Amino acid sequence: TDARITVHTEAGIDRIEPELHGHFSEHLGRCIYDGIWHSQESDDEWFREDVVSLLDDLNMPVLRWPGGCFADDYHWEDGVGPREERPRRRNLFWSQDRSETPEEPNTFGTHEFLDLCERIGTEPYLATNVGSGDPQEAANWVEYTCYDGDTELADRRRENGREEPYEVRYWGLGNENWGCGGQMTPEQYAREYRRFATYVGSMDNLMLDHDLELIACGFQNHTWNRRFMEEIGNTNWGVEFPLDHLTLHHYYGRTMSVAEADEEKYDKFLIEALEMDEHIERIAAAIDAVATTRDIGVIIDEWGAWHTEAVAESGLEQPGTVIDALSAAAVLDVFNHHSDVLTMSNIAQTVNVLQCLVETEGDEAWARPTYRVFDLYAPHKGNEAVQTSIDTPTRDVDDNELSLVRASASVDDKGETYITVTNLDCRGTHTVEIDIEGAASASSDVDAAVLFEEQDPDLKVDANNADAFVAEDLDVTVESDTLTVELEPSTVAGISVQ
Ligand code: AHR
Repeated sequence: TDARITVHTEAGIDRIEPELHGHFSEHLGRCIYDGIWHSQESDDEWFREDVVSLLDDLNMPVLRWPGGCFADDYHWEDGVGPREERPRRRNLFWSQDRSETPEEPNTFGTHEFLDLCERIGTEPYLATNVGSGDPQEAANWVEYTCYDGDTELADRRRENGREEPYEVRYWGLGNENWGCGGQMTPEQYAREYRRFATYVGSMDNLMLDHDLELIACGFQNHTWNRRFMEEIGNTNWGVEFPLDHLTLHHYYGRTMSVAEADEEKYDKFLIEALEMDEHIERIAAAIDAVATTRDIGVIIDEWGAWHTEAVAESGLEQPGTVIDALSAAAVLDVFNHHSDVLTMSNIAQTVNVLQCLVETEGDEAWARPTYRVFDLYAPHKGNEAVQTSIDTPTRDVDDNELSLVRASASVDDKGETYITVTNLDCRGTHTVEIDIEGAASASSDVDAAVLFEEQDPDLKVDANNADAFVAEDLDVTVESDTLTVELEPSTVAGISVQ
């Protein structure tokens, strides 16, 4: 044995909100157009049904849209009404196609997005334009989508084909306003945020049948977050803390080319991915230091691998690999450990872009290895996360130490324990012993699956080989209340114990 995990089934952390398995889709490259939606109507269809079906199977709890940087130059009214009459606009930040100039056709807009969410059973999260828009426009968007009364905007929605209001609970007020969303200081963003929150937030009590949750976009710089919170919590301005969640974005791997990576680079890349842990602690601390009178959740609004291959001119596309999927597994374990502060997280970006889960080429669509990881981690959703302690081999990577075996565990309402274990070591197999405190001895019913056995970490996955990355049964030796598994290099296991 070279790694030992103890699962403290009685030491609960908090509920793992299903929203921790959320997603993010932007009008960027081939994510929407030629990803979810055809660029041109095809056989009377606009949705890419093959992609929609893969997304439906994923049971994604929440989907953020339309950006990203795109959100802060987007005017929602451009994307409603008869498609042939919608204006063609610039797409200021991202090209729509690998070769064309960046333009936005607006054939995919509010109705199309919200209809997609209903089709795949996901909760929508709309990001409003704080950078170049105004609070009136944002409040109008809420009214247009969610109001059931007798106003011009509600009637316009009906004329555009939707009688019943949509139910949109999550409203992001801005995106990266410290950068592409207007290069604001924390004080400036706090001021803008308060204006937007006043108009958007006032709508829920009187006008809507559901509550709204307002989301501010933070930064990887936690001094900035702290300043923002201080300004937002300034009671001299009236309402205290008009926000429900503060977000940050964490991408990793930008210096690594998957095509040229070696084992040392994998280790560094995984260290960078695991910096997520510290970011969550630091943003939660920035919130706690200031917001002593109310709970404000942490959202990781955008996250995932972003390699040197993913350049803007090529639509931020990069290969879908096992090493990326492995990093996602390690990060999902980190999320479980922080279930007491995290309310949502959204991997970027659903289709074709960055660490997407689904990729398309021509008429083909397939699930990437990261998709399989989300499937394997799905049983955690809604469970109570519990503490784990791990004794693991490590490797020195520059000034850091990479824990080679990592894990997280949760317990469902019937007392079933679910454990996910990663072997982040791309060089060696590790035998892992798992002690489950309080588990019923050898008679326990154990079910285990493993991903990526005998797969090269950097093999490019495409339509021809995607099926080789599905989970396989994993042998588990059960003795008393100890389970033993052998994990090959770069593998992920999911183990349920009744
Ligand atoms: O996901 C790509 C971009 O990354 C988003 O538009 C922006 O929010 C972030 O910098």
